Amino acid sequence: MHDLSPRPGDLEPIETASTDELRSLQLDRLRWSVHHAYENVPHYRASFDAAGVHPDDVKDLSDLAKLPFTAKADLRDNYPFGMFAVPRSDVSRVHASSGTTGKPTVVGYTRDDLDMWASVMARSIRAAGGRAGHMLHNAYGYGLFTGGLGAHGGAERLGCTVVPVSGGMTERQVQLIQDFQPDLIMVTPSYMLSVIDEMERQGVDPRSTSLKVGIFGAEPWTNDMRLEMEQRLDMHAVDIYGLSEVIGPGVASECVETKDGLHVWEDHFYPEIIDPFTGEVLPDGEEGELVFTSLTKQAMPIIRYRTRDLTRLLPGTARSMRRIEKITGRSDDMIILRGVNLFPTQIEELILRTPELSPHFQCVLDRTGNLDSLTVLVERRESAPLDVARTAGAELRRLVKASIGVTVGVDVVDPDTVERSVGKMRRIVDHRPKR
Ligand code: DLL
Repeated sequence: MHDLSPRPGDLEPIETASTDELRSLQLDRLRWSVHHAYENVPHYRASFDAAGVHPDDVKDLSDLAKLPFTAKADLRDNYPFGMFAVPRSDVSRVHASSGTTGKPTVVGYTRDDLDMWASVMARSIRAAGGRAGHMLHNAYGYGLFTGGLGAHGGAERLGCTVVPVSGGMTERQVQLIQDFQPDLIMVTPSYMLSVIDEMERQGVDPRSTSLKVGIFGAEPWTNDMRLEMEQRLDMHAVDIYGLSEVIGPGVASECVETKDGLHVWEDHFYPEIIDPFTGEVLPDGEEGELVFTSLTKQAMPIIRYRTRDLTRLLPGTARSMRRIEKITGRSDDMIILRGVNLFPTQIEELILRTPELSPHFQCVLDRTGNLDSLTVLVERRESAPLDVARTAGAELRRLVKASIGVTVGVDVVDPDTVERSVGKMRRIVDHRPKR
């Protein structure tokens, strides 16, 4: 694989700034952001007043803990534009996330916000090993989803040649990779697997493509999946994180030279980890729910937004800003099975340690009487005959019992039978009747 470590002068000064410099910048920006939200968004004024706090109470970064949280429901309640802090005519663009139920959540950007977003995305692509002059195949969905246009803006800012393919039409994805010879690909990890399968179907050796780096995000994926991709594609696989409420992709990103978690671009997004039950702020290193406060956003400042994503904050390594560990999953995606908590990422790890099984899988939940059950629906690898793969399925069942402590069913099926997605993969299929 290529050495894509940064050379002297590649990084922005803030990426290597001292902790003191960074904290002082954050405090100035936090004060501005909290005032901006309070003075211009009725929701924040009401929630701060109800909690008996005022922006002037923020004298130190730790004072952030005094402010109330913001949840997805607050955005829904203020649908569509009630969370905006600037006149609608100053909003250059909106995005929205569909969600599974109810109204979408809408987010807005001023020109300056789009400029900031492009700069953090450019920083993310550079961290992943991208450079000016590289060709970037962008298979994140374009449209209301932030993935496509977010990656696009950052790639252009960095000076890449962008191929705005969007998701879908998998045969054509392969053809364009063959014909255009891109250096970088941006796509959800689950859709990358479909693209690899399609390469094999067309007789293209995935290890022979021009790709040097894949920048994968928008859904949880494990280090075992990284190994799978790196081996099958002979390229680096790095993680990128973000969410529309905070900006979109580019909130945190992995560095190709370390691949040890995602550096949070803390000069724009201030992270906290809280206990999801008590709301108490936890010290760095402890696992909990990730919460973000925007420090520079104009159109839609966001104060203490509860992401529902579970991870830990760790000290900086390749950059001075703190890292988050790879996301285990969303608290909404936690399966509680006969008292045992588990996440689809834990199942993914075990599947990838079973060579006869492919990483195309879903967790299917059912209920008989009062008893919940989980069946892992997983495809066998093309190379594994069904009887051999069934034995591997029994082994997976044993591994799940041994490492997670719960009995699940495993249903090994033929290649290409588990549902595919061109964007975020639906890992949990819940057939349980609503109580
Ligand atoms: O998924 C933004 C994005 C696009 C990120 C492209 C990375 C690449 P939303 O649709 O608002 O935004 O969904 C945000 O997706 O709260 C996480 O639960 C999940 N997520 C995003 N990136 C990762 C990741 C985009 N790297 C939600 N690992 C977040 C795990 C991720 N989960």
